[in-house]
Amino acid sequence: MDLKADIGVIGGTGFYAFLDDVKEITVETPYGAPSDKIALAKIGDKTVAFLPRHGKDHRFPPHMINYRANIYALKQLGVTRILGPCASGSLQPHVKPGDFVICDQFVNRTWGRKDTFYDGPITTHIGGAEPYCPELRKIAIEVAKEKGLPLHERGTVVVVQGPRFSTKAESREFSSHGWEVINMTQYPEVVLARELEICYANITLVTDYDVGLEGHPDIEPVSHEMVLKVFNENLEKLKDLIYTIIERIPKERHCRCGEELKTARMG
Ligand code: ADE
Repeated sequence: MDLKADIGVIGGTGFYAFLDDVKEITVETPYGAPSDKIALAKIGDKTVAFLPRHGKDHRFPPHMINYRANIYALKQLGVTRILGPCASGSLQPHVKPGDFVICDQFVNRTWGRKDTFYDGPITTHIGGAEPYCPELRKIAIEVAKEKGLPLHERGTVVVVQGPRFSTKAESREFSSHGWEVINMTQYPEVVLARELEICYANITLVTDYDVGLEGHPDIEPVSHEMVLKVFNENLEKLKDLIYTIIERIPKERHCRCGEELKTARMG
């Protein structure tokens, strides 16, 4: 296998390996080292590059992940599409643990993260209206429906700084806006991919009700243990979903993600 890849998968909490028969490679970038070695493997005629977002031993908490190195490393391998699965908490009663959400919007509540490749002299202003690739999202929704998974075809994820979970007051604010899920890593991963003209889709697996659910004293607020437990219970379904999405991705792109810089660059 050559050191090129078509599709990247960035696995989150509890998702530290994907395929068998991998070739592990170390990739360096101008932004430093990615979270871990990258595992290359084949699905049909496509080469898939798998990178555990937090490192295999989960040594990088969300605010310490080198998001730029992760995305740039995949770009260097030639990746043009990234699937970014993650665990998220629910902010709405109808979004239940075990459900899947194909997010279409995010709200950034993180701070201090390096969230652009363009600190000058090249200046770019990428668009934000549709941050997730519409073509990848459509495929993900189609496949999830075919598999009969409990699915929300869209959703807004609010991305918090962590590493602590939210207070009841914070969570109440997020819920009151109508946002569906909460997570610590979608930002800046999704925007960095767009800055390098890589398609990006998120597949959220809901693991908890964040601070519990009003009127349901039996539903506990989130803990890291709870996230891992629910994630592990659903991991095989998630892997199977991602595998089939990859099989279904066409060779050519039919979206505008690969042309972002045509209209975004200032210099
Ligand atoms: N990841 C999984 N559950 C979460 C929650 N409730 N808040 C933030 N990140 C999460």
